[in-house]
Amino acid sequence: MKNILVTGSSGQISSELIPALSKRGYNIISSDIRDPPKEELEYSTFTRLDVTDREALRQIVREYQIEGIIHNASILSAKGEENPYLAMNVNIRGLENVLTVAHEENVQRILSPSSIAAFGPSTPKIDTPNDTIMRPTTIYGISKVYTELLGEYFVLKFGLDFRSLRYPGIISAKTLPGGGTTDWAVEIFYKAIEEKKYTCFVKPDTMMPMMAMPDCINATIQLFEAPEDKLIHRTFNVAGISFTPQMLAEEIKKHIPEFIIDYKPDYRQQIADSWPKSIDDTVAKEEWGWESKFSLEDLVIYMLDELSKKLKSTVSSP
Ligand SMILES: NC(=O)c1ccc[n+]([C@@H]2O[C@H](COP(=O)([O-])OP(=O)(O)OC[C@H]3O[C@@H](n4cnc5c(N)ncnc54)[C@H](O)[C@@H]3O)[C@@H](O)[C@H]2O)c1
Repeated sequence: MKNILVTGSSGQISSELIPALSKRGYNIISSDIRDPPKEELEYSTFTRLDVTDREALRQIVREYQIEGIIHNASILSAKGEENPYLAMNVNIRGLENVLTVAHEENVQRILSPSSIAAFGPSTPKIDTPNDTIMRPTTIYGISKVYTELLGEYFVLKFGLDFRSLRYPGIISAKTLPGGGTTDWAVEIFYKAIEEKKYTCFVKPDTMMPMMAMPDCINATIQLFEAPEDKLIHRTFNVAGISFTPQMLAEEIKKHIPEFIIDYKPDYRQQIADSWPKSIDDTVAKEEWGWESKFSLEDLVIYMLDELSKKLKSTVSSP
């Protein structure tokens, strides 16, 4: 498989996934409704695509002889609650288009990420198992359960090679997050370096599962390339590190002692409270060898180093 289409390619995850895929020898066609980051053009051929336009998608799949699709176009959790109809259109209609075109045009493999938002208030919150109660209360979460189930239906019905992984909050030094409930865990680093203080939009003891971007990229490529005959499941929990804003602030203070955090919870608190605190990824470990490489300490060092370079600021070591 060589020619890969990435949708939502101007977003947080794609902008780091595309260079990594290109370095592995894939020929990447990137696509979004927004312009791509400049660096991405070194690694891919960009074409504008609104995933709600099924025929435009089909044209691109034909023109570039697409063999695999990584479907990252999405409206994330917080933005989805602000505009549920937009989220329904992009996340649900967009997914239907991708799966239908993939099946009709003989695309070999689809990876479409899910999220911990696919879980809901009645899901067990600690070490949430791979197979458990899924009754989310956000439109984003509902669209992710639909992603998992419709993708798995296409596997059973049409033999399409669909794969999905439930990302926790993704923490990256390169790109800003796109309107999710875990965005505090990225914003805090920018504010710690630039202003030495941060007002967090969830309460200090809100434990949430997170993952450093290098882990996210490894998990995505590993699952995309996993031998199909080893996969019993098609949707996988992937865990990184679980922590609260208070725990993260304490770790940051080891490097920036004057850093202060305060808390002003908003509507995102309710979304955060409906999600797991930690997740069990044994199934991903067993079926395709997943393993997270970052501790909280590693994550803080990685973010402060990378962001300090980016923001050209100096941070003292402990
Ligand atoms: N970043 C996270 O913390 C996180 C966590 C869990 C799951 N995910 C999932 O990972 C995937 C990628 O997320 P991300 O963080 O890169 O999101 P993002 O918001 O940064 O990027 C999504 C991209 O989709 C594009 N888009 C929106 N509407 C579109 C449309 N109609 N047609 C084409 N493109 C459109 C946007 O312009 C944006 O560039 C999504 O499926 C998301 O749900 C992300």
